[in-house]
Amino acid sequence: MTTQRPTTDTEAQTQVPQTAPEAAAAPEAAAAPPSQKSAFDVTDLNLFYGGFHAVKDVNMKVARNKVTAFIGSSGCGKSTVLRSLNRMHEVIRGARAEGTVLLEGEDIYHSSVDPVLVRRKVGMVFQAPNPFPTMTIYENVAAGLKLNRTRMSKADMDQVVEESLNGAHLWTEVKDRLNKPGSGLSGGQQQRLCIARAIAVKPEVLLMDEPASALDPIATLAIEDLIHQLKKDYTIVIVTHNMQQASRASDYTAFFNLEATGMPGHLVEMDDTETIFSRPREKSTEDYVSGRFG
Ligand SMILES: Nc1ncnc2c1ncn2[C@@H]1O[C@H](COP(=O)(O)OP(=O)(O)OP(=O)(O)O)[C@@H](O)[C@H]1O
Ligand SMILES: [Mg+2]
Repeated sequence: MTTQRPTTDTEAQTQVPQTAPEAAAAPEAAAAPPSQKSAFDVTDLNLFYGGFHAVKDVNMKVARNKVTAFIGSSGCGKSTVLRSLNRMHEVIRGARAEGTVLLEGEDIYHSSVDPVLVRRKVGMVFQAPNPFPTMTIYENVAAGLKLNRTRMSKADMDQVVEESLNGAHLWTEVKDRLNKPGSGLSGGQQQRLCIARAIAVKPEVLLMDEPASALDPIATLAIEDLIHQLKKDYTIVIVTHNMQQASRASDYTAFFNLEATGMPGHLVEMDDTETIFSRPREKSTEDYVSGRFG
C-alpha cells in the first residue's frame, strides 16, 4: 500500500525537525508485542517525507485500553509514527506511508477507507494547545460534532459538551464561562479543552504528542491523572520526552532511535513499561532511559 495526499495542514507541520545525537548503532530488534488484545497492529511501516526515509520497518502492536508511550531522542520519528496512526502523516505535502496499519483488524490505509472516518475514530491532541481562537469554550468542544455533521438537538449538544468537559476534568473550572473565548484559558486548561474537543466525538483512540511539554508540574500531573482516567474508555498513545512521565503514565513503552544522523529512525524495542525502565534488552534503550544520552 502506498498513499500520497498532497494537501497542507499547519498543525501537522509544527514539528521542528532537529538533529538527533549520534547513537551507537542498535541491532535490529523485533518489537516485543504486548500480550493484551491490540487496537493497532502495525506491520513493516515505512514513512517518508518526499525522498527522505524518516522511519523504517516499524512492527508493533498497541494494546487496547492501555497507555503506550513513545520515547526516544529528538528526530527519531515519534511524531511521524504517531501521525501515521490516524493518517495525519499524509496531509503533509509529499509525505507518504508504506506498510500496514490495522485498527481493530481493519487496514486504515485501504483504498476504500475514508481518512476522515479514521481521524474520527483516532483523535489527536497536539503538543501545543490549539483551541480555535475565535470560538468560545462551548464552541471549541462542539466543533468536532458540527464538523461531523452529527444532527443533534441543542439539549443533546449541551449534554455532550458537559460530558466531554467533565471527562477532561475541566467542567467545574469553566461551567460558568462557556461562552467566553477558549483562548482566554490558561495553558493547562487549554490543553484539557483540546482533550475535551477530541473526546467529544467519541473516538476509540487518543493520540497525544507531548501533551504536557508546555505545562508546569502541577498541570502535568493533572494531565497524567486524566490519562489514567481516560484509559478506561480509550486506547492512548502518548509521545513524551519526560522519562518520569513515561514510567508513571504508561503501561507499555516503545523506544525509537536513529542509527546515525540522516538515517531513518526505527523501533528498537517495545515492552511493558516496567521492563523497559528496569531491564531492557538493548543497551541503547538502557542508555536512553537512564539519561546517558538524548
Ligand atoms: N514535515 C516534515 N517535512 C520533512 N521532514 C520532516 C517533517 N517532519 C519531520 N521530518 C523529519 O522526519 C524525522 C522524524 O521527525 P519527527 O518529528 O517524527 O521526530 P520526533 O521523534 O517526533 O522528534 P521530537 O522529539 O523533536 O519531536 C526528522 O528527521 C525530521 O526532520
Ligand atoms: Mg515530535
